[in-house]
Amino acid sequence: MTTPRFALRGDLLDFTADPGLDALDGAGVRLRRDHWLLVERGRIVGAQAEAPGEDWQQFDHAGRLILPGFIDTHVHSAQVDVIGSWGTQLLDWLETHTFPAEMRFADPVHALQMSHLFLQSLLAHGTTAACVFPTVHAASVEALFEAAHARGMRIIGGKVLMDRHAPPELCDEAEHAEKECHALIERWHGHGRIAYAVTPRFAPTSSDAQLAMAGRLVRHHPGLYMQTHVAENTDEVRWVHELFPAARSYLDVYAAHGLLNERAVLAHGIWLDDTDRAQIRDAGAQIAFCPSSNLFLGSGAFPWHKTRDAGVAVSLASDVGGGTSLAMRRTMLDAYEVQASLQQRVTAFALLHAATRGAARALQLGHEIGSLEAGAMADFCIWDWATTPLATRRQAVARDLHEKLFAWVALADEHDLAETWVAGVRRYQRT
Ligand code: GUN
Ligand code: ZN
Repeated sequence: MTTPRFALRGDLLDFTADPGLDALDGAGVRLRRDHWLLVERGRIVGAQAEAPGEDWQQFDHAGRLILPGFIDTHVHSAQVDVIGSWGTQLLDWLETHTFPAEMRFADPVHALQMSHLFLQSLLAHGTTAACVFPTVHAASVEALFEAAHARGMRIIGGKVLMDRHAPPELCDEAEHAEKECHALIERWHGHGRIAYAVTPRFAPTSSDAQLAMAGRLVRHHPGLYMQTHVAENTDEVRWVHELFPAARSYLDVYAAHGLLNERAVLAHGIWLDDTDRAQIRDAGAQIAFCPSSNLFLGSGAFPWHKTRDAGVAVSLASDVGGGTSLAMRRTMLDAYEVQASLQQRVTAFALLHAATRGAARALQLGHEIGSLEAGAMADFCIWDWATTPLATRRQAVARDLHEKLFAWVALADEHDLAETWVAGVRRYQRT
């Protein structure tokens, strides 16, 4: 489906400003009921209430919801095989389940097959852009980028850096890793919609020398992203204090190596203190809140309100395979439930914003993804409000937009997604 100029009819929902975490007044929420979204050469060029002329190919989805594609700011392409692995917390889980699955990505054929499966699954859940960890193997990065490029997806990722406390098959030393990173950056960063992220897995699996190398890469190529894990689990935090006794905090290990900037995506950030949060805010970095993973691995409850109050940008992420689903709506419901356990509330507006415009802006990509604004890439999804009798009934009694949206998130059924479009091309269609 490569029509250069077309229009889609439906209820267009996106955000023009941050709606806040708990406000129900709908500020910043833009619902354009029964409008036509105009798309030309892969970009959104406008939206209007009246049907466009016959020189526009028309797709009528009246009564359906059209949303920007979701953005998953932290997910592992090599962890499909470990989703729902029973019985462990983070450090055990890595050893028992995750490292063995990642070792299989040494095989480029396996890596490519799994990358296709992973990306097609993202699209089948309404996610069109993501920050992704493949593995330490350069072939796993090539495979991810090749499969993403073939779909025109906005994917940010990079070779996972580890040189200690992991199986030897998943480690490499700093000099070799640096060479491989340079080659991958040359080949892929800015190629189509691919961006490279310097990706030290987490402080415990990198030596000082490797973190210094990661810092050099970030300094050397100013447009790169940086992604890692921080303060996810209390045993992990204790271990980092033992391994880096000179650091003020876990976060400080990254800061000391020049890894915090406005393109840094820090997964989890549950066990940070006020000084850490201020440091993240000042750097302009963001936290990827991974509620499904945090619940599944028993890591703790991320304090979203406290983090927001400190001025830190927070996006939402599945963290598959620690997380149990690629579906951002399930992630949103988990986020709501985690906040409820802290006696706090977040609205459906806040949740949807965090997975669209909020994430896009935190990634410095607000002009390209996360909205249905003219000029943005045509990455969007067409959703049914309900596809089961139960959800249909629930929607019928919902009294206002917020109630409808919140119930839509809470009752998420994967069959709700009718189509996913990336850069103006239909890449997923419900069968
Ligand atoms: N910390 C270091 N590696 C990982 C990982 O693969 N998943 C999660 N959830 N945390 C990590
Ligand atoms: Zn992770």
